[in-house]
Amino acid sequence: PQVEPCDMVVFGGTGDLAMRKLLPALYLRARDGQLDPGSRIVAVSRSGLDDAGYRDKVAAELRASLPAESASAEAVGDFLRHLHHITIDVSEHATFGALGEILGTDTERVRVFYLACASQLFGTICRGLDSAGLVDPRSRVVLEKPIGHDLASARRINDEVGTVFPEERIYRIDHYLGKETVQNLLVLRFANALLEPQWNSGAIDHVQITVSESLGVGGRAGYYDRAGALRDMVQNHLLQLLCLVAMEPPTALDREAVRDEKLKVLQALRPMVEGDVARATCRGQYGAGLIDGAAVPGYREDLDGAPSRTETFAALRVDIANWRWSGTPFYLRTGKRMERHASEIVVQFRPVPHSIFPGTEGGISPNRLVLRLQPDEGVRLHLVTKEPGPGGVRLRPVPLNLSFAETFQSPLPDAYERLLLDVIRGNPTLFMRRDEVEAAWAWTEPILAAWAASGEEPQRYAAGTSGPPGATALIERDGRTWHEED
Ligand code: BG6
Repeated sequence: PQVEPCDMVVFGGTGDLAMRKLLPALYLRARDGQLDPGSRIVAVSRSGLDDAGYRDKVAAELRASLPAESASAEAVGDFLRHLHHITIDVSEHATFGALGEILGTDTERVRVFYLACASQLFGTICRGLDSAGLVDPRSRVVLEKPIGHDLASARRINDEVGTVFPEERIYRIDHYLGKETVQNLLVLRFANALLEPQWNSGAIDHVQITVSESLGVGGRAGYYDRAGALRDMVQNHLLQLLCLVAMEPPTALDREAVRDEKLKVLQALRPMVEGDVARATCRGQYGAGLIDGAAVPGYREDLDGAPSRTETFAALRVDIANWRWSGTPFYLRTGKRMERHASEIVVQFRPVPHSIFPGTEGGISPNRLVLRLQPDEGVRLHLVTKEPGPGGVRLRPVPLNLSFAETFQSPLPDAYERLLLDVIRGNPTLFMRRDEVEAAWAWTEPILAAWAASGEEPQRYAAGTSGPPGATALIERDGRTWHEED
């Protein structure tokens, strides 16, 4: 169904995120008739483009990034009519007046301000919008992650935004929460009675969460080098995934109930003290290597030779100090320029307590539930079965395989498509609340501090590999190995 008419103002309207994610997502929703024809998308940047120039730029991007059958000339043409561009220097509040002229005084429409820019600008932009009288009771603001670079800066930014928008109209986006498999995790856990009795440290040995990307930092080196993998991915995406795996059943699929439960998990993360950081974390940085047979430069070359110590890979062992999870570690890892572009959550169950089958003295492969976020979204449950044949009983682990693409035969929407519509509909359930973001920073900060204090370089790994040796050592110390799904 169509959402109500809205004006969506995108700060950072010519940036990487807007071009690669937001506009394609809005386009696809418009093409499917979900955007009201009267809705406007107003891109804000310092580029000096006019509407026509911006429309050309977006059209080129849509044609380049979407398959031809998704981007017909007619559908793209219709979408471009929604677009406007305006040049604003956000530090000059006087320039916000021009935005007011476009938006007018219609308070019937939902107004969304999407801040797809560096979080240091969030406060300034909100004050600019407020002083130009552009914030009305139906206005919402969307904040991209990471919010700040540590707890103090996140609090300051949240305070600044909070002087203009009340918490219920602040949408802190973590696009991982909009991914199909991530939402499906909630359904799998809470719409099937089978799993929940096993969902605890009594039955689960450990959990692995891997988000590996084969892309490098591309054109985002300026931002990335100040962030690194822990701030860019772990503090938000990976911890949010951990929360959804670990949280208690919320009483309803409701904005406060779900977020309350996630918050409790973040508050239960065992804090890393100094000695833990060396033992339970590993950071790496990619060097030159091969991705799909093609030579790619190392991270420092991507930064034009700057002697950076920023990590492009992080692996951690995380412990949750509560009744359900005590004794079940969660291993997280994420990296750029890895061998595979794959994200998955692996829930590894404990082995059977005793084997009755001859030849299995070394142990029987434990059950494993694998939730594949990308590519090939799906769920696999590895069970042990008997190999067919008249001989003895030979055991073999085989997966029960649910592929979303094969089962549902319909294209899966991108996370941003879902989340942008949720903003217009006024549903913040899949967005992070202030206390969650700050709890995640509070837990992350000692790791960042210990890394900085150690003076050590991140371990080098060649592009196109599965990360530095320290990541393997980290999990093998506990007698476990990283799962590599074929
Ligand atoms: C973003 C990070 O939040 O997520 C990027 O800033 C990363 O560095 C991206 O590449 C990964 O998202 P996805 O949806 O491609 O897995």
